[in-house]
Amino acid sequence: MKTWTKEERYRILQSPEEIRGLHEETKKSIYRQTFHEQPVTGLLNDPNGFIYHDGTWHLFYQWCPWGAVHGLKYWYHTISKDLVTWENKGVCIRPDKEYDNKGAYSGSAYPGSDSLYLYYTGNHRDEDWTRKPNTCLVKLKDDGRIEKLEAPLFGMNPNYTEHQRDPKLIHRKDAGKYNIVIGAESPDHKGRVLIYESEHRLSGWEFRGELKVEGYESFGNMWECPSIERIGNQDVLLFCPQNLSVPGRGGSIHHNGYLLGEMDWETLEFHHDGSFHVLDFGFDSYAAECAANIEDPNKAILVAWMGLPDASYPVTDEENWSGCLTLPRELTVRNRRLIQRPLEALKALREKEENPAEGRLPEACEMELTGAGDAALTLKLFTQEKGEGGVVISYDPEKREISVDRSGMKNRFNTEHGECRTRPLESGLRHLRIFIDHSSLEIFVNDGDAVFTSRAFPEKDEHGFVLEGGADVKLWSLKPAVKDDFIV
Ligand code: FRU
Repeated sequence: MKTWTKEERYRILQSPEEIRGLHEETKKSIYRQTFHEQPVTGLLNDPNGFIYHDGTWHLFYQWCPWGAVHGLKYWYHTISKDLVTWENKGVCIRPDKEYDNKGAYSGSAYPGSDSLYLYYTGNHRDEDWTRKPNTCLVKLKDDGRIEKLEAPLFGMNPNYTEHQRDPKLIHRKDAGKYNIVIGAESPDHKGRVLIYESEHRLSGWEFRGELKVEGYESFGNMWECPSIERIGNQDVLLFCPQNLSVPGRGGSIHHNGYLLGEMDWETLEFHHDGSFHVLDFGFDSYAAECAANIEDPNKAILVAWMGLPDASYPVTDEENWSGCLTLPRELTVRNRRLIQRPLEALKALREKEENPAEGRLPEACEMELTGAGDAALTLKLFTQEKGEGGVVISYDPEKREISVDRSGMKNRFNTEHGECRTRPLESGLRHLRIFIDHSSLEIFVNDGDAVFTSRAFPEKDEHGFVLEGGADVKLWSLKPAVKDDFIV
């Protein structure tokens, strides 16, 4: 595997021509997706600035152009009319100011009258590599022009460590206030959320204080990508605590999860119902972001990075690219849990109904299983010619538990994080809806009650499937919805 020097990772992209060859190579990969967003070259991580504005969905991603490495980060822009088909628009935020000289890190969007306001972290580093993160703003004009402010909105808070990032803009219309929440680390290395406030979006930002979350004062050393979403009549605190172990998450130390409750913007207390819930029970999901500006107060739309910090994806890393985003999911609250469902609009991708009896998985497909009753069931995906190996999904009615085990694949990776994940299913297994796209797997259990999101890199002879146990299976091959265009 290539080792990268600092100079190589933080090289500034001067012209698209510097990466055209890389794109040509990347395009040849059999693991390129056909209905998920993926990097034009290099590495993709967090989704950023997800918003509905002026009749169009905008979704940006963290992008390092040079290869499968976290180096200089840009915001890459994509758009969609229907959240199903996506178009590449090219680079949007470049780290070309002193205040963001080592990366335009994650953030969020707000709709202005003639532009999108993009709030992000300017990852500044001094000559001696000391980091001083800034909270910055870029206006993306509706005519495509980009206006960067001369100075950040505010700088680093001296009472916390250098880990301060990922501004999420929240507009409290009733109070006439804007808030920015950012993820941070306290001097004694505990994850925190810092709250800033202004009446004007562009200026006047003041530090209000720390978010108070009783019982979670010592829960990981850094909370990345925090946000507070209002869904129905409750608030959801979404965040990514780092460097701790969480039951059910194997050896992973970085997580994406949530607390449900009520946010008190006067006292800055988040009154929660007691337990941290894992957002996704699969192996590869992080930095989820909800879209801003959707009309329906009872739901949100969520997208996440199908990857994890400090994990490697050796198969595509060797090919010099890494990462993709999850499908956008409709988020609602049921029985004090977040429910994630594939968007209804995704049905438009169904191209042809396949005969499941053949036991072949098209490279881009959707599978639906119903009528499993409460009996034992095993579904093996990506099996070899004689039905061996694969990713094994099994439901155990005695334990009332579903598990996903990817240890049977030829390409095994991040094995130290564990290769099997389980989730209790109190009311048994009723329904499975699975999206497969060349190198990704999204398993929606019981109409969004639980989701397992994972990368998998099947070889050419790993495209079968086997079902043990009774259930009705439907299988569709899916149409492409992203173009692998070279737009930079
Ligand atoms: C999360 C994260 C963010 C940061 C970004 C940098 O994956 O570490 O905290 O802004 O990625 O790419």
